[in-house]
Amino acid sequence: MKATKIADRVFWIGANISTNDLFEGIWPIPDGVTINSYVVKGDKIAIIDLVRDWADATSYMLDELKSIGIEFKDIDYFILNHLEPDHTGNLRALYELSGKAEIITSKKGKPLVKAYYGLSDKVRAVSSGDTLDLGQGKVLTFYDIPNVHWPETMATFDSSTGTLFPCDAFGSFGALKGSIFDDENSEENHEFYEKESLRYYSNIVGPFSNFVLKAINALGPLDIKIIAPSHGLVWRGDPGKIVERYKVYANYMNDYAEPKITVIFGSMYGNTQRMLRSVLKGIASEGVNVEIYKVPEADKSYILASAWESAGLIFGMPTYEYQMYPPMQDLISLLAQKHVWHKKVFRFGSFGWSGGAQKHFDQMTEKLKWDFLEPLEFQGGPTDEDLDKGFEMGKEFAHEIKKIPKKL
Ligand code: FEO
Repeated sequence: MKATKIADRVFWIGANISTNDLFEGIWPIPDGVTINSYVVKGDKIAIIDLVRDWADATSYMLDELKSIGIEFKDIDYFILNHLEPDHTGNLRALYELSGKAEIITSKKGKPLVKAYYGLSDKVRAVSSGDTLDLGQGKVLTFYDIPNVHWPETMATFDSSTGTLFPCDAFGSFGALKGSIFDDENSEENHEFYEKESLRYYSNIVGPFSNFVLKAINALGPLDIKIIAPSHGLVWRGDPGKIVERYKVYANYMNDYAEPKITVIFGSMYGNTQRMLRSVLKGIASEGVNVEIYKVPEADKSYILASAWESAGLIFGMPTYEYQMYPPMQDLISLLAQKHVWHKKVFRFGSFGWSGGAQKHFDQMTEKLKWDFLEPLEFQGGPTDEDLDKGFEMGKEFAHEIKKIPKKL
């Protein structure tokens, strides 16, 4: 593959990953992902962010470097904005190939370079505002953007072209569909990347949303013309679009939401599922958008993305051994870990000899800033009266969701 020029003496040398592997060993990427790496050339040559040796990523990178006449012995700097191994996995091998290159990372990144790769020679720590002069007018400036996504994360800015390299920030799942540039992708492709950026955000960055907002404020004064993240599209046509999108995503953790309901249910013998139908009819009577997922069959990555943006969550699950149905326990534990906060919530479900699921549900969700409607439980199968009540609860819940004002 050839390198892609993204600005004057700035090139993309990343990898388009197609694999059945899970991202972070957790999240499915059926449509792939990109690991973006960049070269900036002055008199000196810097590579910004590397790749993990995954699905031939390193060999793509080497080919792309060769296509612009660069060999590894020519590299002067490896700039590591973030030490997570998807962006540093091949560091040790490339460092040895290069011979002379110096590693530039944040103060918190420096000990991680040693911890992950055993490297401490020629490692320079930088702080916000520090610069690196590559010659020929290429001066790179560094900005700490902690916790987007790890504490050591920084962004690099090339003021000569207005190109920001923010690593995970403003990234997305989804391999390239031909072009890496936002202004060379169709509306359909953008719809795809919008869904995949929400899923990426909620799966990877979500719990750090307040840090995302701080980073956006800190980088705001820069004259940014191009955003070149380390996953997904390079934004040169409308870089403000991905920034606005990330602001919205971050505020989903903070009391802002779409007027939408995510319904998650599990059913052992069909009794809880019978009630689900009535609840859904009640929601439909108010015309509110709904996404429905069944556990354990549905993948948590997609449930999390839907829940992240929804104003309302409905859980349908039976009692199991005096507790919640186990697949729902797993899911709620994930929602708690990912800070799915400030939701309106309704729960229904069946029990056999005694209840227990509701008490367990209350315990697991008490710190999530959720606003609950009265739950609806029934013994065995739902009666006609229970089903009528389920319809009314679904309708009332949807009516409440419609009233949530837009705050952004
Ligand atoms: Fe793409 Fe947090 O690494």
